[in-house]
Amino acid sequence: MVRNETDGTAGMAPRTVVVTGGGTGIGRAVAARFAAAGDDVVIVGRRREVLRSAADELSAEHGRKVTPVICDLADPDDVEAALGRLPERIDVLVNNAGSREAAAGAGPHAVLARWRGDFERNVLTAVLLTESVRDRLTPERGRVITVTSLAALRGGGSYGASKAALHAWNHSLAAQLGPQGVTCNIVAPGTVAGTEFFGARLNDAELTRRAGRTLVGRVGRPSDVAAAVVFLASPDAGFITGEILQCNGGELLGR
Ligand SMILES: NC(=O)c1ccc[n+]([C@@H]2O[C@H](COP(=O)([O-])OP(=O)(O)OC[C@H]3O[C@@H](n4cnc5c(N)ncnc54)[C@H](OP(=O)(O)O)[C@@H]3O)[C@@H](O)[C@H]2O)c1
Repeated sequence: MVRNETDGTAGMAPRTVVVTGGGTGIGRAVAARFAAAGDDVVIVGRRREVLRSAADELSAEHGRKVTPVICDLADPDDVEAALGRLPERIDVLVNNAGSREAAAGAGPHAVLARWRGDFERNVLTAVLLTESVRDRLTPERGRVITVTSLAALRGGGSYGASKAALHAWNHSLAAQLGPQGVTCNIVAPGTVAGTEFFGARLNDAELTRRAGRTLVGRVGRPSDVAAAVVFLASPDAGFITGEILQCNGGELLGR
């Protein structure tokens, strides 16, 4: 276990960290960082086998307890049922689960399905869980970190709008939990390769095009986003709350 000497975690007891969508992509990289630092990690997702094998691999790799909790976070019944399997005390909650539906269609039913789906997949997955466990967040050092997207700034239709909704929600959550010493922040990634998010859409030509839109000439890696999450979870970030940290290689400026 390696505690960071420079972010205030040196000598700190293991934290209890919950990472949603921790079985793949960015969430898995986040879970790996916390496990490597000596924390106990719970990863949440819908697919039993994906989650179980990720938990087994991360436990073996880092020698820490990594526990899978199967749950569809957009389903309130499922979230309620999962509460008994989630830790009684949570130091860090990372709301990372989310996805983008490629469904097309212009009629009102197709539009409704797209908008409702994106809000369920991205807003409710964060809000239902966080509101259900808010009393479990450790006073004075609790952290809520929510992963949104550059699409919240740029547009991106119903997906971008759902991520932007999380920005507004996060600000009110930060105001509610601030008096207890719990901070609430956002990490908003640009394009990140090596996850399931884009499926086959992120071919070489598309990767090159997207890399060219950044100031650093490359797209992001899951570890880039994980590093930003880990910083916001650290004791040294205790005076930062209600913020949005863009993690997009300079692709777009602003909040
Ligand atoms: N990759 C990018 O370029 C990019 C850019 C900006 C923002 N983001 C955001 O980053 C986050 C992570 O995405 P990723 O790129 O790492 O893609 P990913 O590999 O598809 O990860 C998404 C994870 O969320 C889980 N998930 C989705 N819906 C869920 C639900 N209803 N309940 C529980 N778990 C659920 C998935 O597991 P199950 O399917 O097993 O449930 C999966 O492990 C997402 O919020 C995404 O919007 C990604």
